[in-house]
This record gives sequence, structure tokens and C-alpha cells, in this order.
Amino acid sequence: MSRITLIGPGAIGSAIGGALALAGHEVTFCARKAFARLSVQKESEPALVFPARVVTSPANVPPADWVLLCVKAYQVSSAADWLAAAVGPETRVAVLQNGVEQRENAEPFVPTGTTIVPVVIDLPASRTAPGEVKWKRIAAVTVPQGPDGEDFVNLFTGSFVTAETSDEFVTRAWLKLCNNAPSGAILALTGQRMRVMHEPGIADLARAILKETIAVGRAEGARLDDALVERQMQFFLAATGDEGNSMYEDRMAGREMEWNARNAVIVRKAAQHGIAVPVSTTLVPFLAAISNAAKKD
Ligand SMILES: NC(=O)c1ccc[n+]([C@@H]2O[C@H](COP(=O)([O-])OP(=O)(O)OC[C@H]3O[C@@H](n4cnc5c(N)ncnc54)[C@H](OP(=O)(O)O)[C@@H]3O)[C@@H](O)[C@H]2O)c1
Repeated sequence: MSRITLIGPGAIGSAIGGALALAGHEVTFCARKAFARLSVQKESEPALVFPARVVTSPANVPPADWVLLCVKAYQVSSAADWLAAAVGPETRVAVLQNGVEQRENAEPFVPTGTTIVPVVIDLPASRTAPGEVKWKRIAAVTVPQGPDGEDFVNLFTGSFVTAETSDEFVTRAWLKLCNNAPSGAILALTGQRMRVMHEPGIADLARAILKETIAVGRAEGARLDDALVERQMQFFLAATGDEGNSMYEDRMAGREMEWNARNAVIVRKAAQHGIAVPVSTTLVPFLAAISNAAKKD
């Protein structure tokens, strides 16, 4: 049994925290709003409902073996007080976020030398109310190979989450970005669901963002083959028309978006490698402007 402190019990935090609590760990949720019970439901299966241990002030955070950071990438700085309170000398931090900068996102907010484990998540989930999450299809997490990765994977033994280490973690993370960068930008900017991929010119735009993501990912050490472009495009074009994604949901709800973690990262890393990424460079200011307006509202 491990003591786990989970910061950000949203869709991913509630599902992952629920899985870990059901696997027998002592899970404390750090939340802005208290909730008494956690309800985790897979599609039409019965919900798993159990009491939740929740704290709403960093002053009440217990010591932890693991801290799981599950806020969105743009929310990390707002969780600084939680991290300061939760991370002790022996605590390891797992960052469950999309993008390829999980380590960089957490590093400024934890003591130097803290072990940070980046996590790629495949778990389509939505939070329906505080402490209430629904998920579908797949519940999987991937971490880099090594002793910390192995320990993280072992936390999930006996849970509904499939956890594995990968000796190709960089590739794994960039593969996910190849999915997220084009679809996130296009759905958020057009305000339309996946059917928009069939509108004139939109598939070509997705293809262009994808090619830029692949070029930068390769420069970062990811093994991304040429055929990935059309494989990923087939996936986009075969998606159910009414499927959305979190950039779309955030845009529609007037919330900030993870444009920095999913799109600006391509521009930043491209500059480091001297790679031209004109499409991402053009689109990022639009995404940033929309997101920044939501922040000010
Ligand atoms: N949802 C998915 O299907 C999915 C799948 C794969 C990957 N991901 C990635 O997983 C990450 C988390 O996404 P998500 O969908 O779980 O987001 P989410 O549902 O918005 O959850 C974020 C949670 O963090 C909380 N939070 C934010 N700032 C906080 C703070 N300062 N203190 C305490 N709690 C704070 C939010 O609380 P409030 O409720 O108070 O705002 C919310 O509960 C993202 O990087 C996302 O891209 C998501």
C-alpha cells in the first residue's frame, strides 16, 4: 500500500485516483471543491462508488510516497502551493498530462533532485460532477522504463488501469502529440467536431501540422516513420463525426486551452533544431489569443 496524493481530481485525476484507491492505496485528493464520494463509471457498466479522502487546503496535505499531478498543463503554476506542501524528500512525482514536457512542467515547482515520472495517458474520460467520472474504451498509462517507472506501474496492480513501461517513451509521447496537435488545433479553431476533417482543405491542414510535428519529434529522438502521416490521417477521417476533444470542449466552454503544451511546443522545439514549421507558427497565435481571452473573462 502506498500513500498517494493526487493534485487535480478532474477527468483523469478522478479515474486514476479511483483506480488506485480501489487497488488498495491510501489516496488523498487535493481539490479546490470538496466532495465526499468518488464515482467511477465505465460506459454503461455500474458505477464504482466509494468514500473519497479529499483536502481543500495545502495545510492539510499528508506525507506521500507518490504525488500525481493531474491538472491541465496550463494549471501547473496554480498548483504550486499543493506541490510545495505535498512533495517531501522521499516523494516521487508523476505528471499525468498530454504533451511532451511533463518533466519541464513540474520541475520549477518541486525541490531540485525530485524524481519526476512523465506519464502518457490513454483514457478517454469526462468528469460529470466533482468526484464523478465516466470513461470509455481504454484505461492505460505508459511511463519510461527504469526503476521509478516499474514502481509506478506496480501501483496499478489489480486495478482497471493497464500500466506499462516503455523503452521508447519519447516516441510514445510524440505519437500521442501527432494525434493531439492537428486535431486539437483544428477543432478548437473551427469550433467544430471531427466531421470538420471532411471540409475542403481541412485534411490538408491536419496533414501539414502532422508533418511538422513528425519532423520536430524526429529531431527530439522519436522514431516516427513516414507512413505515420497517412495512418494518422485515416484515423482522423474515420472518426465519428460528433467526436470532440479537450481543446474543442475547452474552447466551447470558454475555458483556457492546452495550446502551449500541444502546439506552441512544436514551434519552440522546432526553433531549437532550426526546423521551419510555418503552419504551426501561423496557428499558435490564434489559439493563444482565444485561450488568453478566456483567461481574462
Ligand atoms: N480527459 C481525457 O480524456 C484525457 C485523456 C488523455 C489525456 N488527458 C490529459 O490529462 C490532463 C488532465 O486533463 P483532464 O481532462 O483530467 O482535465 P480536467 O478534467 O480539467 O481536470 C483538471 C483538474 O485539475 C483541477 N485543478 C486545476 N487547478 C487546480 C489547482 N490549482 N488546485 C487543485 N486542483 C486544480 C481542476 O479543478 P476544478 O474542477 O476546480 O477546475 C480539475 O479538477 C491534461 O493534460 C489532458 O490533456 C486527458
